[in-house]
Amino acid sequence: MDVIFLGPPGAGKGTQAQILEKAYGLHQLSTGDMLRKNRIEGTELGKLAQSYMDRGDLVPDDIIIAVVEKELERLPGALFDGFPRTVPQAEALENLLRRKSRPYTVILFDVSEGMIRERLIGRWVNPKTGRVFHERFSPPPDGKIDADGTPLIQREDDKPEAVRHRLEVYHKQTEPLIAYYGDPRRGRLVKVDATESVENVSKVIAHALGFQDVAASP
Ligand code: AP5
Ligand code: MG
Repeated sequence: MDVIFLGPPGAGKGTQAQILEKAYGLHQLSTGDMLRKNRIEGTELGKLAQSYMDRGDLVPDDIIIAVVEKELERLPGALFDGFPRTVPQAEALENLLRRKSRPYTVILFDVSEGMIRERLIGRWVNPKTGRVFHERFSPPPDGKIDADGTPLIQREDDKPEAVRHRLEVYHKQTEPLIAYYGDPRRGRLVKVDATESVENVSKVIAHALGFQDVAASP
């Protein structure tokens, strides 16, 4: 099964991807997490991506498309979290999935900008695993140390100035994908109210994807 999560920064894509991965065995393919891992490991890709990411700009399409192409070769299905986010990326993915005769569903996360800011400002992440917490909504463990012993951090691009810029980038470069996937020749598009609680959003997505049981929190 291939699923695309589409929505603004802070909408809850990563949170829901981790829940669905755990509950239903889907494979989360988060381009943001992959880039952050490369930065930690100091790879060429990580060094190249660093300045774009910290500013809140997108990494160039050709680089991201090559990374995803390589990953897809080894995956029979994926839950795309943060990809595609430009029309050229969507076209590249469309060609890849069509070549492999893989149908897909797009889940569009609908959430207000005020809520996005609140979610991003209170977010803490495990830089090794990408696991996500929120000061109020998904409280991190004591001392902000995750179960694997990794200290949680706040992302550089969650600073107010970078959040503002990421939202502009989203409106300009990623929002056109709503119309792109609204075209009936493409995959099925399902809009989800992402202002609900984590549990309720999980239930709605699981239902939209045809899963019987309600997803459990990780
Ligand atoms: P990426 O890591 O993909 O960031 P993003 O799209 O900006 O999304 P976020 O991870 O910020 O938000 P999310 O929707 O996953 O929300 P989360 O679940 O964490 O990309 C980062 C950068 O990498 C980009 O800016 C770009 O530079 C580069 N990049 C990545 N992919 C690229 C691509 N394809 N092309 C080019 N460049 C690319 O939730 C947020 C917070 O809210 C958490 O604290 C969470 O606990 C809380 N929360 C979640 N759901 C709920 C809920 N229902 N109720 C209450 N709180 C909630
Ligand atoms: Mg994320």
